[in-house]
Amino acid sequence: MLSALLIRNIRNASKLASVAGPNADRIVNVKWSNGKIGEFPLIWLRDTSPDPATYTISPAMTARNLTMLEFDVEQKAKKLWIDGDEDSLKIEWESGLLSTFPSEWLQIRNPSDQKAKKRRRKVYLFPEETWGKEEIERKLKRFSHEEFMKNDRVVHDFLEAVCIDGIAVLKGAPKGVRGAVEDIGDRIGMIKRTHFGMVFEVSTKADASNMAYASNGGLPFHTDFPSLSHPPQLQMLHMLQSAEEGGNSLFVDGFHVAEQLRKENPEVFRLLTTHSMEYIEEGYDVHEINGKTFRFDYDMCARHKVIRLNDEGKVNKIQFGNAMRSWFYDCEPAKVQDIYRAMKTFTEHCYQPRNVLKFRLEDGDTVLWANQRLLHTRDGFKNAPGKSRTLTGCYFDWDIVKSRVRYLRDKLTLEQNQPSA
Ligand code: OGA
Ligand code: ZN
Repeated sequence: MLSALLIRNIRNASKLASVAGPNADRIVNVKWSNGKIGEFPLIWLRDTSPDPATYTISPAMTARNLTMLEFDVEQKAKKLWIDGDEDSLKIEWESGLLSTFPSEWLQIRNPSDQKAKKRRRKVYLFPEETWGKEEIERKLKRFSHEEFMKNDRVVHDFLEAVCIDGIAVLKGAPKGVRGAVEDIGDRIGMIKRTHFGMVFEVSTKADASNMAYASNGGLPFHTDFPSLSHPPQLQMLHMLQSAEEGGNSLFVDGFHVAEQLRKENPEVFRLLTTHSMEYIEEGYDVHEINGKTFRFDYDMCARHKVIRLNDEGKVNKIQFGNAMRSWFYDCEPAKVQDIYRAMKTFTEHCYQPRNVLKFRLEDGDTVLWANQRLLHTRDGFKNAPGKSRTLTGCYFDWDIVKSRVRYLRDKLTLEQNQPSA
């Protein structure tokens, strides 16, 4: 269904004015009456032609009928023209197939239009802006756990905030009751199972007689599980038993820190975006899977750059392990000292007060965040006698979280609901 917003956009849209090409690079140039232009690769127009011979479109799936083995990537257009009455671009191909591209279809997919690119990022829930302390303190979204459990709109708004800001909080689940993580997981869809199991627990296993004095140090800023070749994309922690003192949660937007380094310390940025780290983890864990006890040996190693860039040079992943061994087998030994210096500078930036979000999870509070964007840690704490600080947690994949957001946008006919682009 077309949303009100899109319909308004289409009504305001100017009409297709002219088409030229394809040129020597097989680019088709389209012009609209408001002066906007679009450069569309001819072969891509053939490939995505919205006609029933090219795609079978059913409510459950859109399937491409062409196969690359048979697809002629050199095929030519016999004729291209603008149909003014229909406001569409028509292409008649050598094969005789006629393709019709409505004006708005081209506009929302126009690779030459920055606004269309931005809108596309929005449709697919990729973040646009990074944050420092001031911005996130202003906009961090907190929702009621009870409302989340019964109101789909709250599920949407909570997950949308996690997509955009990389973090959001649920407040006030029944205190000290296990099962909140599983309940939230059921509302989202699927928990990502790892070597830690479905739901894991973070607590200090201190000796009871020492409990009154148990003081536990802070952790270094990190992302979880970079020793996996596919580290968890999102992480959730729920506070079962908070510490008497300290134990605050700290977060930093790694994309923001990376952009600061790009500007303020380009050499560090270069080192961390070009050299891969090896994150090596050893040990084992035992879980019950379908009623059977299963032992997972770790002894694994995965390679990641601390800062990963996409093809356009935009920061799109951060992996920064701690408390595990790392090495650089593919790197000249003489470079290792500089890589350590770069990691140190990266960490120092993470701890700069202008970047850090700090808050306390009270008993019954939950935080969900983007594990490959935000780095997290907690500060040192002291337990109350006989009460060990305990959190339960789990991981999620973006695919599940984002499909829930888009499903809810459709179900609730929200203004943000947009067709695929
Ligand atoms: C961890 C962790 C956070 C906390 O154990 O990896 O980040 O609040 N813990 O204890
Ligand atoms: Zn962690």
